[in-house]
Amino acid sequence: MGSLNNYLSIADLERAALRRLPACVRGYVCGGTEDGQSLAESRRHFERLGFAPRGLRNVAQRSPAATLWGQTYSLPLGFAPTGFSAIVARDCDAALARIAREEQLPFIISGASTVPLERLQQENANRCWYQAYIPGDMDRVRPLLQRLRQAQIPVLVITIDTCVAANRENLQRLRFTVPFRFSLKLLLDGLMHPRWTLQVFLRTVLGEGIPRFSNLSHEMGPAITQEPPNGFRGGRDRLDWDCIRQIRELWDGKLVLKGVMHPDDARSAVAHGADAIIVSTHGGRQLDGCIAPLQALPEVCAAVPADFPVLIDGGFRRGTDVLKALALGARMVFTGRPQLFGAAIGGAEGIRRAVHIFRDEILTDMALLGCAALDEVDSGLLRRVGHPMAL
Ligand SMILES: Cc1cc2nc3c(=O)[nH]c(=O)nc-3n(C[C@H](O)[C@H](O)[C@H](O)COP(=O)(O)O)c2cc1C
Repeated sequence: MGSLNNYLSIADLERAALRRLPACVRGYVCGGTEDGQSLAESRRHFERLGFAPRGLRNVAQRSPAATLWGQTYSLPLGFAPTGFSAIVARDCDAALARIAREEQLPFIISGASTVPLERLQQENANRCWYQAYIPGDMDRVRPLLQRLRQAQIPVLVITIDTCVAANRENLQRLRFTVPFRFSLKLLLDGLMHPRWTLQVFLRTVLGEGIPRFSNLSHEMGPAITQEPPNGFRGGRDRLDWDCIRQIRELWDGKLVLKGVMHPDDARSAVAHGADAIIVSTHGGRQLDGCIAPLQALPEVCAAVPADFPVLIDGGFRRGTDVLKALALGARMVFTGRPQLFGAAIGGAEGIRRAVHIFRDEILTDMALLGCAALDEVDSGLLRRVGHPMAL
């Protein structure tokens, strides 16, 4: 592994992770859908915005701390839900939950994760958020909510951009499916990456058995090589605002909608009693041809009350990326792939390295921008590149 401090940027972590992982795992983690336009656009839009920094502002005492619902986090950063992370590193969900607690960041358990959420709650001092792939069928939702209540999950995140399976051609070419099916291609792929095969695949299967759909519904599901009852995606295409209304009536905790890109949906989220939204294109993994979440952000923020928390994810790799989103009105930023790259090369400590890279960059960039606290980071500091005046 060498010293993790030798990885200076998230891009360094990514390059090393890609060397370590078999092609099918690389394709699963990094891939987008169809022509990869949404994926590329989410990164490209950062380059269209530039800072007009301030000087002489005494930035000797800086704090990147962010507050949400009375809870203070060390950074305006959290771990987005990432399903099947067990194929990146052994016990990856638990490592994410633990590092998030130690680094004081929010962590969202994926509905497609494989470590039971009750154990992740123990790793995270009962502060995990839980992301649900909700079917439009309240008879299946009610028992799930009951399990979440029993596990004292404080925040329910409902992903709204996955009503059907997206067109992931890259995964079809790699013969990578959910539920997982072993194939000759996958076997050869594993043989070409012996470190992954020994340290991730074999240690997981020999240690804990084949990972299971542990958190998709109210009960422990089958191994990820089998179809869960009602299917992995069954009924999600019936999810609508009426379901959200009913869930809001039943769920006393915080309710967050993930995958909101249109200002009208942002307004509806507020009207249906959501406590926050996450502007997201699912990391470019659902509808192709989308605008960047960063481009959608100002219009979404303008559609909701000023104190309504708007969160965002998609393509954040630098401290400056995070600060651009905060300047446009986001309260917090979430990342998916960066911490998985860290996990792939260094397990829990690799995840921590990804967090520290973001932390160090944010602290430096705040100083260079002339901001001692995050509430000083506003749209007055941003310009459209090539357009001197307005945003
Ligand atoms: C490997 C992987 C698995 C993901 N699984 C889920 C999931 O189970 N639920 C979900 O709502 N989003 C999922 N996402 C999307 C992330 O939550 C997030 O929206 C996205 O990764 C942000 O983009 P970034 O990876 O560029 O940071 C996944 C993303 C990746 C890369």
